[in-house]
This record gives sequence, C-alpha cells and structure tokens, in this order.
Amino acid sequence: MQAPKTSKPQPDLKIYRDRMGHHSYERRQAREPLLDTRANHGFFPALGRAKHKFGMALTQTLLKSINQYEAALAEPRTLVLEQNTVSLESMPNANELKLLHLSDFHLDSDLTIAERLIKIIRPLKYDFAVITGDYYNSIEVPNDSSREALKSIINALEKPTYGILGNHDLLQTAPYIETMGIQLLINESVILPFNDKQIQITGIDDPHLFKTDDLEHAIQSVTVDANLKILLSHSPNHLNRAIDHGFHLMLCGHTHGGQICLKDGKPIVGNGSANRDTISGAWSYKSLQGYTSRGAGTGRTHYRLNCPPEITLHTIRF
Ligand SMILES: [Fe+2]
Repeated sequence: MQAPKTSKPQPDLKIYRDRMGHHSYERRQAREPLLDTRANHGFFPALGRAKHKFGMALTQTLLKSINQYEAALAEPRTLVLEQNTVSLESMPNANELKLLHLSDFHLDSDLTIAERLIKIIRPLKYDFAVITGDYYNSIEVPNDSSREALKSIINALEKPTYGILGNHDLLQTAPYIETMGIQLLINESVILPFNDKQIQITGIDDPHLFKTDDLEHAIQSVTVDANLKILLSHSPNHLNRAIDHGFHLMLCGHTHGGQICLKDGKPIVGNGSANRDTISGAWSYKSLQGYTSRGAGTGRTHYRLNCPPEITLHTIRF
C-alpha cells in the first residue's frame, strides 16, 4: 500500500465533502491511498502491472507483425479537431450551441501535448468548454512543469470551462485544477442562460474506478427544468440512469477510443466497463445522444493506430 507522494502542502479537501456528497467523499478518501501512485495500475498493482506488461508486449508484437510499429509510435502526436453535430429531435432546433470538448490529456506522459492543443484551440469560437477528466497520468499531485502545462491549456480556453475528475485524478488535485480557472463539477450541476433558454450541465465523479458518481446528489440543487440537459461523465457508464433523469446529451472520455483500431476506426480491444458502441465518437442509446472522445493523450500505453488523439467541437441544435 503506497501513500500518494507529494512535495506540496496538502490542500484542505473538506469543502468537497458537501459538494460531492458525504458518501462519495468518504469512498474517495478510503480508496485513493490503496492505488499504485505511479501509473494507476488499479487496486491490485502487481496484477495490474503484470497485465499491462503482457498487453504492451502483445501490442508491440502485433504492430511489428503488420509493419505498423513506427506508425503507432508516431500517431499519438497527430492531434486532430473533430466536428460533431447533435440535433435533438424532440426540440425545434432553433438554438445552436458550440461546445468545445477536451479529454484525457495524461499530461505528464507527454508535456508537448499542451502546445499541440493550444495551437488548435486558439482560433476556435465556442460558447463554453468542458474537460472530461484524466488531466494527468500519475496518481499523485503534479509537479511544477505538469502544472504549468495544464495552466497554459486552461489559459487558452474561453471561459466558462467546466471539468470533471477521471480515474487518474486524485481529489487532492482538484483545488489546483480549480485555481487554474476550471470549475469542477464533482457530483454537481450548474444552470447557464443561453439566448432565452437554460442549459443544465451536470458533472459526476468517476464511475469507472472509484465508483464515486452520485447523480442524485449532483442534481439535488437544480430547481429549474432546463431546456437542454448535458451530463459529463468520465466513462460512458450507467446510460439508463442518465435517461431516467432526463439528460439529452452525455459527453465522456476515458476509453481513448481503444487506441489500437482497425482501418475503419473500430477498436480491436474494447473497454470492459463500457458498451462497445459507446467507446468512440458519436453514439445514441434510446433517447440519449452521446459522444466519447478519443482524448488528447495516451496514458501509459504510448501507441495509437487508426485512432488519432482528438479535441472535439460540438454543435448542438436544440
Ligand atoms: Fe484516460
């Protein structure tokens, strides 16, 4: 069992107790110290490391056998801008919202991601931005250069910018992230006026590893029936629950699009906790529309094939 390493003074996290809900807060406090702090190999680090080592060896062998090893090593640096249009059928489509969606920087794996992101972000016009978690890769408080890299990205974003925490984000990084200019929604909601309409943005805590998502708590302070309800969730889980609470659109990250894909972009290996149809790009499930970003970084597996890193500009008609 390893405690998170940090050279910085520990921030007071008690404000998050009420914000995210007592149960989720206690669960985070109990589970975070059990993690392998260097690369997030989960709650059974030896097993996680062995699984990762085996997966890497298998991926390398596969890539070399199809002569794609060099291409897969280079692809993580080919960040692209994706445009996604969402038309909500039950609505008149008289309003058009532009929303910039970023995800999964895993910045300390490759700090140069910040330059590539900023270059694409700067000329874009949008109403607000969201970040769907995994700011860093290491499960520890980021060092100065990692913090500067994140700060430079956040400075380049139009405000407001809303964010959620992923499975690589310790709660103790939340105050640092918020100080930089992101409003985190950790089982929380905000209502934004837009033209003569209202938009609800709800963010839940990580449903994948920590399982500290609490949608009921997140919406308990909402007193208006907003025209457009957007849910931010690090991973595309619990879709029926989102539908039950009237969400129109769910934005996610976490899967990295599978990272190693066939020529048509379909992932070779799925993600255990998510439905295969929701692993990458635009999807719909019953009345819910969704989008899962491939993310801008790569985490601890530094290969991508037919799955370039992305940032996404959503046009939402409602
Ligand atoms: Fe991630």
